[in-house]
Amino acid sequence: MAIRYFRMPAICAFGTGASETAGDEVKRLGCKKALIVSDSVMAKLGQVARLQEKLSAASVQFAVYDKVDAEPTDAIVAEGLRLLRHNDCDALVALGGGSPIDTAKAISILATNEGKISDFMGIGKVPKPGLPVVAIPTTAGTGSEVTGYTIITDTQKDTKMLIGSPYAMPIVALVDPDLTLSMPRGITVATGLDALTHAIESYVSLKSQPLTEVYSLEAIRLISANLRLVYANGNNLEARSNMALGSLMAGIAFSNASVALVHGMSRPIGAHFHVAHGVSNAALLGPVTGFSLMGNPRKYADIADAMGADTEGMGDDKAAGAGLWEIKNLIRDLKVPSLKDLGVEKSKLDRIVGQMAKDAIASGSPGNNPRIPTEQEIVELYYIAYG
Ligand SMILES: [Fe+2]
Repeated sequence: MAIRYFRMPAICAFGTGASETAGDEVKRLGCKKALIVSDSVMAKLGQVARLQEKLSAASVQFAVYDKVDAEPTDAIVAEGLRLLRHNDCDALVALGGGSPIDTAKAISILATNEGKISDFMGIGKVPKPGLPVVAIPTTAGTGSEVTGYTIITDTQKDTKMLIGSPYAMPIVALVDPDLTLSMPRGITVATGLDALTHAIESYVSLKSQPLTEVYSLEAIRLISANLRLVYANGNNLEARSNMALGSLMAGIAFSNASVALVHGMSRPIGAHFHVAHGVSNAALLGPVTGFSLMGNPRKYADIADAMGADTEGMGDDKAAGAGLWEIKNLIRDLKVPSLKDLGVEKSKLDRIVGQMAKDAIASGSPGNNPRIPTEQEIVELYYIAYG
């Protein structure tokens, strides 16, 4: 049996008030000055100021970079790096959704490794550890606070670069469910379904292993039991807390077991049609699950059970179908739009769908799927998701 590795941040703190310990954590790392990486929404909500107070209270100095408003690009990373160097920071504290956290990881890598961020594209290409990153997520979620991945847009080529390395993993994750209360409904649904997709894809991934499967299944259970509740009432703190925990677990699972066909197909949609990651995943999740069931009915039957389907007396094939029904039902209840509803132009899709299928395969993620698709099958799945 091949050696399987399982990595996660050295410290994961979960619960109300976890984010307030950021200053103590930076100090415990032996660092003196942190670059806070965030966005204008967090600044407007007063969360950046609150974080500054906590760092000051722990006698940690800081500089602030709160300009990560869109998908992170190489230009944003370069600007943050300049600020980090100018201020002589020796740690980073990321506050926000996946974008600020991914940006902080990339800045951390460039702070200690010579070169441009594109030099480190791919898996295992970062030679040295970066500066320590303390990650505080405000969505539930991308899972970025616990993964060894960062996705940065190459502005020259207009493509998304995936950088995967143990050195891209934050050393501390502070998951404070109270911070997710401010998420509007659209982001709640998109990030929640992204987290569910991480949980499902990591469970059925050909790279899954016993240490990841427990996290995947518990994440599926938590997310599917709570996503409707936070959709219906964003102030339901218990449901928000369960979503944050589910997202954290799904992140730990997919960081170690990888994602599969949904994510492979989702990235080209994001790159060409500028559809948010969680939204394009959600549009693909039903069709791709239907396609993939036959590759591992046993595991999809487990997913059905975790989602609360009544599979009593059913064989694996039937129970797997019940799981697909649960997924489709959830997506319908959350009113997830099809690609057509999202404004994806049919004529443009017709023109580039072949290239999108090639790019999806080249990303490597479809190779982790329980049913390995051909290029033509991926094209067909894009049209089913189109609606
Ligand atoms: Fe994702």
